[in-house]
Amino acid sequence: MDSVKKSTEIHPDERRIILKYADQPDYDISIDCYMRNGGYDVLKKAVAERKPEELCQEVMDSQVRGRGGAGFPAGMKWKFLDRKSGKPIYLICNADESEPGTFKDRQIIHKDPHQLIEGMMLTAFATGTAQAFIYIREEMPLGAEILEAAIEEARANNFLGDNILGSGYSCDLVVHRGAAAYICGEETGLIESLEGKRAYPRIKPPYFPAALGLYMCPTIVNNVETLCNVKHIVEMSGKEYAKIGKPGNTGTRIWCLSGMVKNPGYYELENGQFTYGDLIYKIGGGLRDGRALQAVIPGGSSSKVWRSGERFVGKLRDGTEFDWGIEDVPLDFDGPMAAGSMSGSGGVVVIDDSVDIVEVLANINAFYAHESCGQCTPCREGSLWMKKVTTRMANGGAREEDADLLASIGDQIAGRTVCAHGEACAWPTQSFIAKFRDKFIDKAKQDPEEAKSRSFRMV
Ligand SMILES: Cc1cc2nc3c(=O)[nH]c(=O)nc-3n(C[C@H](O)[C@H](O)[C@H](O)COP(=O)(O)O)c2cc1C
Repeated sequence: MDSVKKSTEIHPDERRIILKYADQPDYDISIDCYMRNGGYDVLKKAVAERKPEELCQEVMDSQVRGRGGAGFPAGMKWKFLDRKSGKPIYLICNADESEPGTFKDRQIIHKDPHQLIEGMMLTAFATGTAQAFIYIREEMPLGAEILEAAIEEARANNFLGDNILGSGYSCDLVVHRGAAAYICGEETGLIESLEGKRAYPRIKPPYFPAALGLYMCPTIVNNVETLCNVKHIVEMSGKEYAKIGKPGNTGTRIWCLSGMVKNPGYYELENGQFTYGDLIYKIGGGLRDGRALQAVIPGGSSSKVWRSGERFVGKLRDGTEFDWGIEDVPLDFDGPMAAGSMSGSGGVVVIDDSVDIVEVLANINAFYAHESCGQCTPCREGSLWMKKVTTRMANGGAREEDADLLASIGDQIAGRTVCAHGEACAWPTQSFIAKFRDKFIDKAKQDPEEAKSRSFRMV
């Protein structure tokens, strides 16, 4: 068995901004420790000396893109906020983190909760928020307890609550435990859930949260990592922040590396300065036990899979031509998009040649079928159907026509649902069939008894 790194080890290639203090042996989660290291200084200065619109401009200048999945520029989202409605404005931190392969937000929450609170209070001040929420995944009870204790400490120091630091600005922050479903991470499903209802996503348009969000009031929803970045953007200025990474892909990103690599873990890397090859082979130590690469899921289990050996050829937005293998794809937002997939939530899953690829898809399909909220027929019925077919295939009942059947089910889900969960369940099937068609056809030739003897038993 190859040796693996300790989860708290920091790789020399990392540039830690968000996780600067996490994993330092002498750092703890108390407000005293946070403040000893300059914590809340940015908030103190901002509420005393700066105007909210200046902070919004800093975030715009930074070009920071959302770290929750879609990569939408945060400054632009804040600009869309309907400030003239006369209704209260709400801020929600999306801490639902449920995409398989993703485990970054919980590191921040568990190891540096005050950084998130400071980022949120700066965002609240910038956007004129009346009340802020952290919607945290129900399965992270420790994170919820840590945040609640940290909020009490922050309140006792008047970093939130009434008349924050004598500025005349007031905003409270509460933790809301989620309803234990993947769909609660979709921002409009999250809002419904926060209102106490079943997390059925809303149709966009008209229900863009920036205009019609929580209680039909203007609402900003941002991811944990995005909101932490706000603290550093305000501290160093948006223009300085934009020098980190590369244009359109600024700042750092916390990548979650899992699967059959020697050194799985989370790594904070400057955007666009590394490739998937660097992450898998150099930083991640390469594949285990001398195995060969079979596939990479580049951005959480809903992103489209890449097959080892495939090449991506095209032109970037700036006109640069590229011809990449998986190893060459830039580790940022635009690289994986150009290679037909996405960086999503930053969860990179490495699959070696020992794995039955049909079983991988059966596993993924079981997850998305379980998590479909059931509101839209194509997603509700289609996800279950895909799960049923791939489970049967994995358990020795594969038929040659299954590949075509699966592709056609996927094609009838994508683009036909209220929210992007439709794509989340269709993209794996569509891409696995497109890239590994031979393996799905071959599965029908496998001895059913051999398939049954394997460990896969999804029901
Ligand atoms: C099915 C589904 C699940 C999602 N789950 C999460 C999640 O767990 N955490 C998250 O931050 N964003 C999640 N998102 C994205 C959110 O809808 C939203 O875009 C994000 O919170 C915005 O924050 P950002 O702009 O800072 O990335 C999900 C989206 C979909 C379609």
